[in-house]
Amino acid sequence: MAQSRTAIVAGNWKMNYGPKQASAFAMEILPELGQLTRGYQDILCILCPPAISLPAVREVTDAMPAPRIELGAQNMYFEEQGAYTGELSPAMVRELCSNVILGHSERRTYFAETDEVVNRKVQAAFKHNLRPIVCIGENLAQYESGATQEVIRAQVQASLSNFPAEKAGEVVIAYEPIWAIGTGRAATAKIAGEVIHLIRKLYHDMYGPEAAASLRILYGGSVTGANIGEFVAHPDIDGALVGGASLKPDFIEIVRKTIATKQKP
Ligand code: PGA
Repeated sequence: MAQSRTAIVAGNWKMNYGPKQASAFAMEILPELGQLTRGYQDILCILCPPAISLPAVREVTDAMPAPRIELGAQNMYFEEQGAYTGELSPAMVRELCSNVILGHSERRTYFAETDEVVNRKVQAAFKHNLRPIVCIGENLAQYESGATQEVIRAQVQASLSNFPAEKAGEVVIAYEPIWAIGTGRAATAKIAGEVIHLIRKLYHDMYGPEAAASLRILYGGSVTGANIGEFVAHPDIDGALVGGASLKPDFIEIVRKTIATKQKP
């Protein structure tokens, strides 16, 4: 099926690779990633190292420019500046990259981020011209008790509400069932596809058909080079947010298979 949305493969390095290791890893994967993505318009690769490693990775990407490869941060605060020890402002993040992951389940679980906080961060991202990659997903107990749809509906309505109409379609959502993150137990494309279908429908009700049609929705949770094909073959799944496998050359395989699967005939 022809895709009208550019696929996205984002690598969330989490708290791995300080500046030296990040630079070495970027040098290892970028030549092949650059070559792979160069002749193909309909893919975007986003590397998200720890914030402290962004300058080092940026040096590497500046030295090996590849039009379909961008950088992203893993988090930021919504305030403009001031006494917020340890935080990064949207403008600081924007100096180094053009994307930001927001509301990852690890932020929600370990740092008590609520949907309301995530919403404020997304609004701040818009203001600073950063592309937000907003993570949502249910935990194992919710999944097992059949509450997935209800949880997703509440998260979408609270964390993705009140956007300016012209910005709503620029959001990227990552559906990441928490039980699939870092567990080696990926969801199936059928399960992910159903939830993603629901997310697009909710978005349609909130922002109308155009925003819903341009919204990119990724799957995340134990994605590897071996299982990515199944996910991106699903017409509703626009790519992947990759954790563990983004720290290895397997990431290149994930990008390769995404391109091969989403390629228009
Ligand atoms: P994982 O992480 O690929 O290691 O499961 C995904 C994520 O947390 O974004």
